[in-house]
Amino acid sequence: MTSLEKASALRRRKGGRPIAALTAYDYSIARLLDEVGIDLLLVGDSLGMVVLGFPDTTHVTLEHMLHHVAAVARAKPRALVVGDLPIDTYRTPAEALETARRMVAAGAEAVKLEGGLRQVGQVQAIVAAGIPVIGHLGMLPQRVLAEGGYRKKGRTPEQSEAILAGARALIDAGVAAIVLESVVPDAARFVSSEIEVPTIGIGCGNGTCDGEIAVITDLVGSFPWFVPPFARPEADTAGQIREAAARYLARVGSAPAPGCSQSRPRG
Ligand code: KIV
Repeated sequence: MTSLEKASALRRRKGGRPIAALTAYDYSIARLLDEVGIDLLLVGDSLGMVVLGFPDTTHVTLEHMLHHVAAVARAKPRALVVGDLPIDTYRTPAEALETARRMVAAGAEAVKLEGGLRQVGQVQAIVAAGIPVIGHLGMLPQRVLAEGGYRKKGRTPEQSEAILAGARALIDAGVAAIVLESVVPDAARFVSSEIEVPTIGIGCGNGTCDGEIAVITDLVGSFPWFVPPFARPEADTAGQIREAAARYLARVGSAPAPGCSQSRPRG
């Protein structure tokens, strides 16, 4: 299937079988998730935190994204591969189009960008070039510094209406689906019921959207130092890695003497 066919198949999932999406940042995880039948693999700029060790996504550059998009694309997933446009790479329609083209050249089949009304020109430019776009509304991680923290959205009728207005503007501009992040359940359900493209929720409560997306490290428990309150881990990969490494230490005869701390000071 072409990227446009995959994107329209995604769009047709509105009201049908829920969309199951996950982030992926490298070849092996992309292959594993694709073998299981995940619908959409997002090379999210969350990689800034869970792969690169930055405090938030505002440090992620286009070069970081291209490197990881290419790794995921090498798995040749059946799933739609979506690349996040990083902060400050889509300030104008022309810049957004240039960035989207570079993401596609690296292997992305669609791109995602954050924001509603202010992104209409950017979405139109990218879609007109034949590149599918996914919107992202609600809590926008790239605005964490500007907003002074991560806050739930859609808490008031006015906020819900603003999210809906943003969603409608993005749909008119041509998005295939919209990620809703950290929108309170009633507002997520309301917006989802009012629009004709699928919503894909994260931190919006169960069954409030047309699908769900999770950060892979939250799902498999491989980033134990910060776990968002809404995460529902299905595995303890961090524990398994620690156990395997401790068994390895013992096997090579290098286990620390009893009483020695196994963790090293950081920094
Ligand atoms: O970067 C990311 O992982 C995302 C998800 C939280 C949707 O944008």
